[in-house]
Amino acid sequence: MPSTGAGGVSGGDPVIGTARVRVPLPSGRYAAGVDTASTRTARPLITARTAAVWTVLRRELDRHAGRRLTVLDVGGGTGGFAVPLAEAGHAVTVIDASPDALAALTRRAADAGVAGRVRAVQGDGDALSSLVEPGSVDLILCHAVLEVVDDPAGVVAAIATALRPGGAVSLLVAGRAAAILGRAINGHLPAAAAVAADPDGRAGARDTLRRRYDVETAAALLSTAGLEVEETHGVRVLADLLPATVLEEDPQALLELEIALASRPPFRDIASQLHLFARRP
Ligand SMILES: C[S@@+](CC[C@H](N)C(=O)[O-])C[C@H]1O[C@@H](n2cnc3c(N)ncnc32)[C@H](O)[C@@H]1O
Repeated sequence: MPSTGAGGVSGGDPVIGTARVRVPLPSGRYAAGVDTASTRTARPLITARTAAVWTVLRRELDRHAGRRLTVLDVGGGTGGFAVPLAEAGHAVTVIDASPDALAALTRRAADAGVAGRVRAVQGDGDALSSLVEPGSVDLILCHAVLEVVDDPAGVVAAIATALRPGGAVSLLVAGRAAAILGRAINGHLPAAAAVAADPDGRAGARDTLRRRYDVETAAALLSTAGLEVEETHGVRVLADLLPATVLEEDPQALLELEIALASRPPFRDIASQLHLFARRP
């Protein structure tokens, strides 16, 4: 079973756009990440790497305002999403293959004062169906994990089974188009051609990711499992393509442009990661 170790939403491709700035949330307020009652830790800051995802998640949390949701983060790593969700009052279980990542998650949850709402479970995403009770989860995150598991269709089927009717999944996968563009722009034309030609969008045996997705292939994975795709966004449309000087000059402008482009083809479709939000009918 492959394990990529802890951390990040990069999905294995190069990350440049990590500037931390404010993002307007659906309510119209400016905030960083999700609201939290905790004053013991700094709030998570939104970056071009996470803005589109938090915007969609925030909308789902608002939809269930006043309810403590049961959340599952498959391959949740060190808790970059799990801990803020717990800070927002939800009960979060993180299943991850890496004991090191789970140890960091546990420390992070304790530091944030939400250890009681975060459960760390060491387990294989490919065995998800044996780890979670069917129909028991309100919201499942599966971010930057399908690229490394043995059987992505099996994992998505298990996610669909674990969701309650009406429950939702937030899926983040590496984009094939961005991997081609990134390699070509950096002068690695054979690698770009390999990603374009390979059925799984892999650059070769040394590629750390086993597969990448297009909007259509990612959506098909969800719909085959009986899930209805409600929203599709690109995450890091520009951030990984721009020189560092541009990124550093005006991070707020970059973030606002990223948000403006995130749902608009063709920009959405060339993002480093594709974010799909789907629901169990
Ligand atoms: C790129 S990180 C993503 C972490 C987190 N989801 C995020 O977006 O920040 C991939 C995570 O998946 C975990 N992982 C890799 N293979 C796995 C598997 N087969 N089952 C469960 N977790 C796995 C790794 O340990 C790592 O924490």
